Amino acid sequence: TLANLAILAMAYLLGSIPFAVVCSRLFGLQDPRTYGSGNPGATNVLRSGNKAAAALTLIGDAAKGWFAVWVSIRLGFSPLIVSGVAVAVFLGHLYPIFLKFKGGKGVATAFGVMIAIQPILALAAAATWIIMAVFFRYSSLAALTCALFAPFYYFFGGMLVWQSHLVIGAALIVIAAFLFYRHRANITRLIQGTEPKIGSSKKT
Ligand code: G3P
Repeated sequence: TLANLAILAMAYLLGSIPFAVVCSRLFGLQDPRTYGSGNPGATNVLRSGNKAAAALTLIGDAAKGWFAVWVSIRLGFSPLIVSGVAVAVFLGHLYPIFLKFKGGKGVATAFGVMIAIQPILALAAAATWIIMAVFFRYSSLAALTCALFAPFYYFFGGMLVWQSHLVIGAALIVIAAFLFYRHRANITRLIQGTEPKIGSSKKT
């Protein structure tokens, strides 16, 4: 229906807003696509040394994922459309129309999506990220671990705590697959031992 198409298109457009670029401009910083990993995301903005800009990037990119999915649930869309909205807002961040389809890696946006799907799921993912980040100090590795575990958390929680929908779990799997694909350079660096640790401003 038209409403379905409209909400999916709006999710994609919302996801396309690149908060790394917007926040950097607000703070008068260099464009994050010109330094570090070149990725328009919170981790790379942190390499500028400006923690506030990085935090705002994280909040903005997560908020758009949360908002799109939350609105679609509140408006009573079916689980299939809600799952489509989750993927659409995420893909908007990865392939944003406003940046010639060259976007980020989707970690913050996927986290925001999880908050709207099930806050406990997001909490479990955040705990996973923090534990991995504290132990290994790699933002990418922490995110990859979260993405891998999130579908399991979702279905496992669905057996105990909440009602899970197959299509929503499928969205989390699709998101994880794209997230891994977008981290392929990070994965290579992790294997080679050349991935920079969190907060280090070393150029790669
Ligand atoms: O948020 C993306 C993070 O997992 C990796 O970012 O800049 O180190 O490639 P970056």
